[in-house]
Amino acid sequence: MQISVESFYDQLSSEYTALINKCVPRYDEMLFNLFCYLPEGWQPQRILDLGCGTGNLTAAILVHFPDAEIHALDLSADILNQCKERFKENFNIQYHQQDFSALNFPENHFDLIVSSIAIHHIPDEQKLKLYQKIHHILKPKGIFEFADQTRGATEEIYQKHISRWKAAAFELGSTQENWDMWMKHQDEHDYHTEVNWHLEKLKALNFETVDILWKNVMWAVIYARK
Ligand SMILES: C[S@@+](CC[C@H](N)C(=O)[O-])C[C@H]1O[C@@H](n2cnc3c(N)ncnc32)[C@H](O)[C@@H]1O
Repeated sequence: MQISVESFYDQLSSEYTALINKCVPRYDEMLFNLFCYLPEGWQPQRILDLGCGTGNLTAAILVHFPDAEIHALDLSADILNQCKERFKENFNIQYHQQDFSALNFPENHFDLIVSSIAIHHIPDEQKLKLYQKIHHILKPKGIFEFADQTRGATEEIYQKHISRWKAAAFELGSTQENWDMWMKHQDEHDYHTEVNWHLEKLKALNFETVDILWKNVMWAVIYARK
């Protein structure tokens, strides 16, 4: 039976962090790279984490920018509750249970918008709408960066990515059952897109600087400055 993205993450919420650490190779390094290229000494005041899940990236934001006003947004109420529970002592975080398509923050609102392994859950036409909204709600010179799974310029490269990912996930401790669950989820809900597609669309939206900062197999960190 096929379930929605929201129900998938609701059901997974309590086990999510352990499972993702066994599934994504060089996960911490990937998240670390989201912070490496930010301007020296920059202190973004308002930050949005899109698809925060249990708060793995939110935790890294807090390490780098403990005084910022952080907005953590996710579709799944259960996973967002895990995030709230994790940071219950921290009053700088505001939570939003919302679909990406319903983003309604004011123009020029955020200094920094980040996301990790979340945007691939929406089809390309919705990604484009999301990037338009992100451009609108970022302040001038604001930065949008995301780490995510990507496709491959050919089917051959993409299939190689998947087989290398499988080998890496098993090395990290994933079981066949874990792998089957992610593959079922992937078939039902994931929309992997080529790196070049993201770069071209972001450039076309008039982001001033667009680049890919890091890549490992199918995981990439993409940067866009308004
Ligand atoms: C793989 S998790 C990543 C969580 C976290 N960023 C991390 O790195 O561990 C993807 C998250 O994106 C959320 N998500 C998927 N589609 C979404 C949408 N359309 N709107 C908002 N959140 C969404 C899911 O509920 C899930 O919590």
